[in-house]
Amino acid sequence: MTRSVGILGMGCYVPEKVLTNFDLEKIVDTSDSWIQERTGIKARHIAADDEATSDLAYNAAIKALAAANVKPEDIDLIIVGSASNDHNWPSTACILQNRLGCTHAAAFDLIAGCSGFVYNLAVASQMVKTGLYNHVLIVGAETLSRIINWKDRNTCVLFGDGAGAAVVGEVEEGYGVLGIDLGADGSGMKALYQPSGGSREPATHETIDKAGHTIHMNGPEVFKFAVKIMGKTALNSIEKAGLTPEDIDWLIPHQANLRIINSAAKRLKMPMEKVWVNVDKYANTSAASIPIAMCEAIEAGALKKGDNIVLDGFGAGLTWASIVLKWAL
Ligand code: UT7
Repeated sequence: MTRSVGILGMGCYVPEKVLTNFDLEKIVDTSDSWIQERTGIKARHIAADDEATSDLAYNAAIKALAAANVKPEDIDLIIVGSASNDHNWPSTACILQNRLGCTHAAAFDLIAGCSGFVYNLAVASQMVKTGLYNHVLIVGAETLSRIINWKDRNTCVLFGDGAGAAVVGEVEEGYGVLGIDLGADGSGMKALYQPSGGSREPATHETIDKAGHTIHMNGPEVFKFAVKIMGKTALNSIEKAGLTPEDIDWLIPHQANLRIINSAAKRLKMPMEKVWVNVDKYANTSAASIPIAMCEAIEAGALKKGDNIVLDGFGAGLTWASIVLKWAL
């Protein structure tokens, strides 16, 4: 019999410092009303000077381990998704493995932009399903504030820092991951990317001067892509799960922009009461946005055992990912 695989426990962490739209009005030519109307964002959390992505990941991971009641030494694999790693290499997953004391764990990073956490869950679930591993720690963690161009109003108002983690393992039969849909379209890579600091354009004084190591984005192009793909990938994973949108209790989408979330909900004909939204508080925390939203939903007691949940993401790559889970906790 194949194993049913799902989430055993989750944890999230956001840094203490809050930067509001009004704070941003003092930094760039923008306004609270423009940001709220176009994105739904009111505030975002920003990492302290001594906090890097692995620190945020660590704080989320220890909570996830405690919630799952799994010891660090019982973790077999760690997968971290991030667009703002501590270093280009080695992986943030290895840094986390050492800090957590996951002495028996393999570790790697998986790059899928804001779709990272859902990609991680897809990979982890298959590795547990085959019996290769029993407990996989998956993380989405970002300190995007470090790679934002704080002079570019087109991007600096959109992002925030945070982390979310989950322990993936065997769950009661029939629960857990029911359907997975992953995809990519690399022809859109320049719609959202970090041009400099890699082998294509190594860091030089010139690349630093032109802010090549910061987030570069064609907002309207990403917007169009997101509106098209969010509904489509969710419908694909729902179909693969053998369900219909009417069977879905919660949509937990990537928190990039309220208008994008609204359009995905509309495509799925889901009332907004069934959609978890927290983009107003945290802005776009990329790979961390879905697990932070899930943690909030758990803490609020919104997710009930047996609920059908759709995780729905898109991001740099371009990538997309959705997973249907029958909630097992
Ligand atoms: O995880 C994936 C990450 N990325 C995304 O999800 C981004 C997806 N895209 C979006 O969310 C939207 O495209 C944005 C919110 C980025 C922009 O909204 P938009 O409705 O597409 O606006 P726009 O880029 O077409 O810009 C409209 C106007 C422009 O002025 P002009 O040329 O019409 O005079 C911009 O310069 O708004 C201006 N603008 C701003 N004004 C005040 C752009 N950013 C700002 C700002 N404050 N922060």
